[in-house]
Amino acid sequence: MSTAPECITVRTEGRVGIVTLNRPKQLNALNNQLMDELGAALKAFDADENIGCMIVTGSEKAFAAGADIGAMATYTFADVYKGDYITRNWETIRSVRKPVIAAVSGFALGGGCELAMMCDFIIAADNAKFGQPEIKLGIIPGAGGTQRLPRAVGKSKAMDLALTGRMMDATEAERAGLVSRVVPLDKLMDEALGAALIICDFSQLAVMAAKESVNRAFESGLSDGVMFERRMFHALFATQDQKEGMAAFVEKRKPDFRNV
Ligand code: CAA
Repeated sequence: MSTAPECITVRTEGRVGIVTLNRPKQLNALNNQLMDELGAALKAFDADENIGCMIVTGSEKAFAAGADIGAMATYTFADVYKGDYITRNWETIRSVRKPVIAAVSGFALGGGCELAMMCDFIIAADNAKFGQPEIKLGIIPGAGGTQRLPRAVGKSKAMDLALTGRMMDATEAERAGLVSRVVPLDKLMDEALGAALIICDFSQLAVMAAKESVNRAFESGLSDGVMFERRMFHALFATQDQKEGMAAFVEKRKPDFRNV
């Protein structure tokens, strides 16, 4: 029998599934239970025909202040290596095929920044602060930070953040390409929801193909990536949604996508 989640809250708005990280006393520090619950919630939304897009968000003060330091403070190398501890259950998020938007306000540090980067794009409130401060704890990022951050912001800024542990604000994060948009704090959820609802109205087949194809850019060389994109592009001509989308344009009406 499944029990109600304790470290997140889950709700829907129309066809959008929203997960809110909810460990306020620990600034949403990410422990195993929270990451299991988050993974399960996203997988459930992914499998739900009525859901077209997801949002992961936190509180005004913290998206997430990183992996739970208290929980890992006494671990030894043998503990973490043998048990594959701390981030072993984080990759679930990467297997979600529908889009996941990170709506970030407040601190997104360490694992919090890494979690935001695992989402498909980041919309930030103007009070957001991003960083990889693990160096201050005698460790390095352990959930993809040294790999995804340089892909997002380039080597120089990624090195700066990982080596000095400093935070960057939302303006710097947008300028660097880490976040797609910055909005006032009180508009964050409206903006994320607006983007999610737009995505929900498109053909889910095209949306999933676009996500898969953009992600391929980070996994392959240019020729392989372009070939992958071309094959996905060709494949979409087998869908009824392509016929509907193009017919609607020609007939100057709104398309009625059926996800087939
Ligand atoms: N883990 C566990 N608890 C945390 C936490 C974390 N990552 N971040 C904050 N908290 C807790 C604090 O211990 C504090 O608890 P108490 O009230 O019981 O003392 C509570 O949240 C509030 O925090 P602060 O009092 O420190 O709040 P602040 O506003 O003064 O500072 C902050 C906010 C700058 C985010 C500061 O809390 C901080 O530096 N946190 C740690 C950030 C960090 O180092 N993250 C990386 C973790 S390692 C990691 O993530 C590894 C990886 O790559 C997977």
